[in-house]
Amino acid sequence: MVNINQSVGKNNQSVVHAITSDGGSVVRVLAVDDEAPSCKLLATMLGPPAFHCTTASNGQEALLTLQRERFDAVISDLYMPGISGMELLTEVRRSHPHLAFLVTTGMDDVDVGVQAMRRGADDYLVKPLHEGAVLASLESALYKRQLGREIENYRQHLEEMVAERTGQLREAVQQIERNYEDTLLALGAAIDLRDNETAGHSQRVCHYSLQIAREMGWSDNQLGSLARGAYLHDIGKLGIPDGILLKPGVLTVDERKLMQRHVQIGFDLVKDIALLADAAEIVLAHHERYDGSGYPRGLKGDEILLSARIFSIADTLDAITSNRPYRRASSFEFARETIGQLSGSQFDPKAVRVFLAIPRDFWPTIARSQQKVVTFSAALTREESVRSLCASKRNP
Ligand SMILES: [Fe+2]
Ligand SMILES: [Fe+2]
Repeated sequence: MVNINQSVGKNNQSVVHAITSDGGSVVRVLAVDDEAPSCKLLATMLGPPAFHCTTASNGQEALLTLQRERFDAVISDLYMPGISGMELLTEVRRSHPHLAFLVTTGMDDVDVGVQAMRRGADDYLVKPLHEGAVLASLESALYKRQLGREIENYRQHLEEMVAERTGQLREAVQQIERNYEDTLLALGAAIDLRDNETAGHSQRVCHYSLQIAREMGWSDNQLGSLARGAYLHDIGKLGIPDGILLKPGVLTVDERKLMQRHVQIGFDLVKDIALLADAAEIVLAHHERYDGSGYPRGLKGDEILLSARIFSIADTLDAITSNRPYRRASSFEFARETIGQLSGSQFDPKAVRVFLAIPRDFWPTIARSQQKVVTFSAALTREESVRSLCASKRNP
């Protein structure tokens, strides 16, 4: 522990330097006492070169002096007319929490000292003051305050470090998410390339599905899963032979059976990827029909995942409104009517109602915009969609 007594005796200012609040070489003390001899005595004890002592004859003067000058410590009498030592202590703790504060009292009353220390004094001294006791007490108080400052600095440093590391971690997670989304986009592009009659299909059904789900008030998390499922719904087609996938004519019964296997192949491909577990269920169920006539499991009504029920409307909407080698694209109006007619048989009536309530010009606007699913973060896709919807209302 540093020792001011030694430092004064040996004129070793480097020790004092270590415990001043601003790293200066002189400890600045404010002595407060209504009795002039007491102030003078303290000023004598705390003289240069280690100290600079300023005196004040009452609490009011002390507060004014503290506003004007910087100090390391206050040594104040407890019993003074006007502002008492206790009141001064309370005010200094509020306005200068890092100052060392010693109280002096004319009576050797432990209770008074304890009371002062409870209110934030670092120590109390009994008059008549002895230099050794004053210096030892001051040394201890300054050391305690120094430790307090160091702890505070350390805490601030720690907070800055945590904030910095948190930022780095967030950046790393965002990078991983970007990589992950890039991978999904590449997969979707591969599906569309493979089955080139449906170019852009994955993108469009993704946007269509999201819009229906948003109207149902889905959370961002649910929308994210739906987006991934819709985007990858036909990933299993990567495992279907070209001869069947690209066959221009009608498929035979066996070929159709093989073609229908794309839902199971797709499910098996992604089901073990933790981030795609929900999406995998959509991949598996995207050809189920509300009346149980779909595949692969022939599920009925609410047995089918709601995401898949929403998706099947989006998928049909895009199928009807896209060109095929064997027929031209039909209008969005025709697609809406067809989907409305299939409510309750192929499609979930609740989802159809929501779909039909969406302004009719929304769909062609989305289809024409050919916007990429730049992120699977639902917040962004929502923003894009709102922008598109606004644009479609302005330019019907
Ligand atoms: Fe499919
Ligand atoms: Fe599809």
